[in-house]
Amino acid sequence: MNPVRMDFKTASERALELNALLKEANRLYYVENAPQMSDFDYDMFMKELAAIEAEYPVLMAPDSPTQKVGSDLDESLSKSLRNSEFRQFEHRYPMLSLGNTYNIGEVADFAARAARDIGPGFTYSCELKFDGTAICLTYRQGRLYRALTRGDGTKGDDVTANALRIKNIPQRLIGSGWPEEFEIRGEIYMPYDDFDRLNAERLEAEELPFANPRNAASGSLKLLDPDEVAHRGLECTLYHMLGENLPFNTHKEALDAARSWGLPVSDKSRICTSIEEVEDFITSWDSDRKYLPFATDGIVIKVNELPYQQELGYTSKFPRWAVAYKFKAEQALTQLISIDYQVGRTGAVTPVANLEPVQLSGTVVKRASLHNLDQMDLLDVRIGDFVYVEKGGEIIPKITGIEESRRGLGVTRPVFPSVCPDCGTPLLRDEGEAKHFCPNSTGCPMQIKGRLIHFISRKAMNVLAGDATIDQMYNLSLVRYPSDLYRLTKEQLLLLDGWKERSAERFLQSLTESRQVSFDHVLFALGIRYVGETTAKAIAAHFGNIDAIMSATREQLLEVDTVGEVIADSVTDFFSKDINREIVASLKEAGLRFEMEAPASKASDALAGASVVVSGNFSISREEMKDLIVVNGGRNSSSVSAKTGFLLAGSKPGPEKVKKAESLGVRIVGEDDFFEMIGHESPAPASEEGQMTLF
Ligand code: IVH
Repeated sequence: MNPVRMDFKTASERALELNALLKEANRLYYVENAPQMSDFDYDMFMKELAAIEAEYPVLMAPDSPTQKVGSDLDESLSKSLRNSEFRQFEHRYPMLSLGNTYNIGEVADFAARAARDIGPGFTYSCELKFDGTAICLTYRQGRLYRALTRGDGTKGDDVTANALRIKNIPQRLIGSGWPEEFEIRGEIYMPYDDFDRLNAERLEAEELPFANPRNAASGSLKLLDPDEVAHRGLECTLYHMLGENLPFNTHKEALDAARSWGLPVSDKSRICTSIEEVEDFITSWDSDRKYLPFATDGIVIKVNELPYQQELGYTSKFPRWAVAYKFKAEQALTQLISIDYQVGRTGAVTPVANLEPVQLSGTVVKRASLHNLDQMDLLDVRIGDFVYVEKGGEIIPKITGIEESRRGLGVTRPVFPSVCPDCGTPLLRDEGEAKHFCPNSTGCPMQIKGRLIHFISRKAMNVLAGDATIDQMYNLSLVRYPSDLYRLTKEQLLLLDGWKERSAERFLQSLTESRQVSFDHVLFALGIRYVGETTAKAIAAHFGNIDAIMSATREQLLEVDTVGEVIADSVTDFFSKDINREIVASLKEAGLRFEMEAPASKASDALAGASVVVSGNFSISREEMKDLIVVNGGRNSSSVSAKTGFLLAGSKPGPEKVKKAESLGVRIVGEDDFFEMIGHESPAPASEEGQMTLF
């Protein structure tokens, strides 16, 4: 590492800045699954901070990001409290990260350091570095006992129920010779095909797509519904076995044994006996990885002999017996044919480049986003240019640069439209907003049709019709607003191209059935910006009916799990418009459901209307606790505010929640008192399995 030549004052200011920058980047990456910094920049900032700390050790903060692995546990008071739904368990052995480099020379330095400490007689296990999210599986007596996420490296979230729904994680081992108990660690990842399918579904539902397969994998592993996890197509690969007195001499022997017990272990690893072989392995995968059906971001090089691994040991963050060589983001060079300006159902205009098809990280890329006018100007892009496309952390590939040396004479400057390409209305751009939008929300055909298509989609009202049908209905002036669908007659439907008696009847039947669609789907169908399926479900469950939502304040909306400021503002904005209130009124008239069904059996009114925040572990699951709150007339809320009725605290409640409750004077109620309040017998103690921490 280069020595830093900075005076102490500059170094201390920069260290503070880097600490804050890296901590925020960690939170966005591990907790929000929405990274905003590229891996490369992150690694460079980390190196810079480490260099400053090496020069001025007093500048090393006790919680410096150079000393700790990032945490996927959500301990903030933010709204994304998904993770707090999981029980947490301590890791038996800390779950560390890997030292990394982008420089082959530094891999040779790693090998030289190892040789200096343990002598020359060792071999290397070279493996793909899978770009997913880490998992730790414990097998006991041949059965999957527990699956934990990395968490903060010391304790992780218990995602066993979800792991059991990942197709290549065996619940029971096969073969023989497995130790009574062992841990095996690896990565959960999402193959490209499943990632593309998932994002297509999310786009159709107007939910934010995942930026990359890694985020999709970690977001999916933390879902609360194991059935949905099964649907996501996650896969697992395992690369590190741990346990007491394991009968192996090498890492390879351990992984070969794991494979023979039915565990998923990659067959792409190789034992290398010299640093030259390691370098060959790296070089060949740097180009061949584009043919793999999943994302890899580098190669991991490990000392293969377990006694040597032990001798080399660990720093607080990394093993000294392994290092990761990271690949630079893959790019492809291709020609820009034309630019489309797409108008979404919310009116936002996005320039999308049509490209000469090109292979990139496992898929053929034909289109790439140019984001907005500023980005086009920054790139100074011309139609006919050769452009670089990258997948990076973005949702659809983006154009990152142009190859000026290949600019031909025939290139033309693109002209960003000043009017909507669909309805001709002059486009607007709000201050501080990067995107232009068509303000004609009630008259722009693309927006009107987009909203109708969303309304009937499978996850919304599930009405049997496709985009082309909506197009025709719109062109014949049969529909404009969703409620118009419910007024269509058989005679009108027979006007549509190719429609016969039977197709009309089937369509009308599916409209009738849609009247039974539950309120959360109806709310989703309204197409409120940023309110995807999951958010609609949370809002519907929290408020119970449309009138409560329409009159909810921003603060009340913020009380809902998964609702942050952007969503809260979007909901209040939506219902502040008369047209949207009218749409709701006419849909009510059409007989759609605008309230949640009452809970099956109401036990009591003991908690009538009280907002309750649940935190910590109980003798029953947290989900069961939440159900008890609802059937006794209360409401669940994720964060403590002055309006909270009480904080229901089990063992190890979130310290921030307790602190906030204390500072606001909110009552803290324990499990026994809670059961007394609702006149419920304490449940029998849970089985030993359910209650005890393993280690
Ligand atoms: S070994 C003690 N092997 O990359 C650490 N890690 O950036 C042992 N990863 O934390 C980790 N592929 O989550 C190892 N073949 C592989 C890997 C791998 C992906 C992940 C892992 C690690 C992270 C570091």
